[in-house]
Amino acid sequence: MRIPGPATRDDDGAAAIGAAGGLHLYQRQLHDRYGDVVQFPLPGVGTAVSVADPVLLERTARLDERPEALFAFLSPLCEAGNLQVIGAEEHTPWRRVLLDVLAGRPSHERHFGEFVALAHDLADRWAADDGARGIALQEDLTALSLRMICAYALGGTDPALVDTGRVVHAFEVVLTESIGQMYRPPGADEEARARRVEDALRYLRGTVDRVLDARRGSRARGDRGDLVGALHDAGMTPARIRDTVMVTLLAAHHTTGVAVSWTLHLLSRHPGVADRVAAELDAVLGERAAPDHADLRRLTYLDMVLKEAMRLYPPGPYGARRTDEAITLGPYEIPAGSTVFYPFWAVHMNPAHWPEPERFDPERFTPRAVAGRARLAHIPFGIGPRSCEGAALAVVEARLVLAVLLKRFRFRPVPGHEVTTVERFVLRAADDIRVVAEPREAGRG
Ligand code: HEM
Repeated sequence: MRIPGPATRDDDGAAAIGAAGGLHLYQRQLHDRYGDVVQFPLPGVGTAVSVADPVLLERTARLDERPEALFAFLSPLCEAGNLQVIGAEEHTPWRRVLLDVLAGRPSHERHFGEFVALAHDLADRWAADDGARGIALQEDLTALSLRMICAYALGGTDPALVDTGRVVHAFEVVLTESIGQMYRPPGADEEARARRVEDALRYLRGTVDRVLDARRGSRARGDRGDLVGALHDAGMTPARIRDTVMVTLLAAHHTTGVAVSWTLHLLSRHPGVADRVAAELDAVLGERAAPDHADLRRLTYLDMVLKEAMRLYPPGPYGARRTDEAITLGPYEIPAGSTVFYPFWAVHMNPAHWPEPERFDPERFTPRAVAGRARLAHIPFGIGPRSCEGAALAVVEARLVLAVLLKRFRFRPVPGHEVTTVERFVLRAADDIRVVAEPREAGRG
C-alpha cells in the first residue's frame, strides 16, 4: 500500500520545510494533513517515512543507525567521526561509558550539593533583578545547565576554564548558522556566515582543550561522574575523548535549559497549576529552600508538570533512524535502507493518544493515566539504543532547579513579549522567554 504524503517536487523538499518555518513545524503540518504515517522528501536523504503513531513506533525501537545527511550539521564539532551517526559497533561501547558516568544514582547524589549551590546562585541573582525587562529564562537557564554538567562530569565550574556565556553563544552561532541555512538557498553572505561558524568552532575547541588540560593527572579516583577519566579507562582515542567532551557540553546544556524554561513559561500562564506546585513544595520542604536528593521522589506533582511541559515543548523535537532490513508498519512495507523520521513533537500532539493536545494538563501524567497510554506516546528522550544517555541526570537536574526556583518565586509573563518556537536542534523560543520573578512567602501562593 502506498504511504500518503506530499507529491514529489522538483526540488528536494527544502522549500516546503523552509515555508513551514523548519522541520519542527513541518512535521506537525504533515501529520495533521496526511495521518500517522507519512512519506515526504527530506533534503540529503531522499524520501523519509515519518511515524507519529506510538504503537507503530514500537516496530522501529531496536533500530540502531541514524541517517548521516540529516545530522551532517554536527560534523564540524567532531574530529573522529560525527558521534550522532557513528556505526553501532563504535557506538555501543561509547554509550556504555556515557551511561556509567551519567546515569548512576550514587553519582547524582554526590553532586547534588553542588547543583543546589548553583541553583541558589541563580535565584539570588534573580531576586536582585529590578524587573524592568524581565528575566531571560533561556539565556540564564542554559548557562546554569552548562555549569551543572561542568560540575558533574568535567571537573568543576572554574570560569577560566569554561566561560558559560561565551560557550552558550558559540554553540548558538554554530547551530543557527548551520541549521538556518539547511532549508533555504545560499545567500549573498555565505562567506561571512562561514567565518562566524569557524570563529565559534575555534572558541569551542579551545574550551575543550582547556578542560582536558585541567583534567590531565587530576582524576578523582573512584568518581564515576568523571567523564574524561572513564573514557580514557575504556581505551577511547584522544580525538574521541575530545569529541565526547564537545558533544556533552552541547547535549547537556541547551536541552535541560530549555526544558526548565518551557516549564516556567507554562506555569507563568497557568497560575492554578503554579499554586498546586507551590503547595506541594511547601508540604515537602517546609521551611527549607531546596530539596534533598531523596525529596525529589516526593515531588510528584512537579514531576507531572515537567513531563507535560516536555510533551508540549519537547526540547529535542525530532530524530531519525535507518532501517537495516525491511519492516512492516501497519499496512505499509518499509524497505531496508530507508530513513524513518521520528517526529517527537507530532507524536506528543497526536489527538488519538492525547485528547485536546494543545491543552496544558499535568493530570495526563497521573500513574493511572500513564498506565492507560501507549508506552511510546511520550518520548522526550527518544527511543531505543540511541536514546538520550543523559535522561536520568537531566530529570534530577530539572526537578531540582524547578523546586528551588518555584519555592522562592512566582513567575508572571512580561506583557507584550511574544513567545514563538524556533528549531535550533532544540526547540527553543526565538526571542527567549521573558518573565517577572516575584518573591513568594513560604506557605502562601
Ligand atoms: C531535558 C533534557 C534533555 C532532553 C529532552 C534530551 C533529549 C534527547 C533526545 C531527543 C535525543 C535523541 C534521541 C533519539 O534519537 O532517540 C538525545 C540524545 C542525546 N542526549 Fe539528550 N536530552 C536531554 C539532556 C541531556 C543531557 C543532560 C545529556 C548529557 C549529560 C544528554 C546527552 C545526550 C547524548 C550524548 C545524546 C546522543 C545519544 C546517542 O546518539 O547515543 N542529553 N537527547
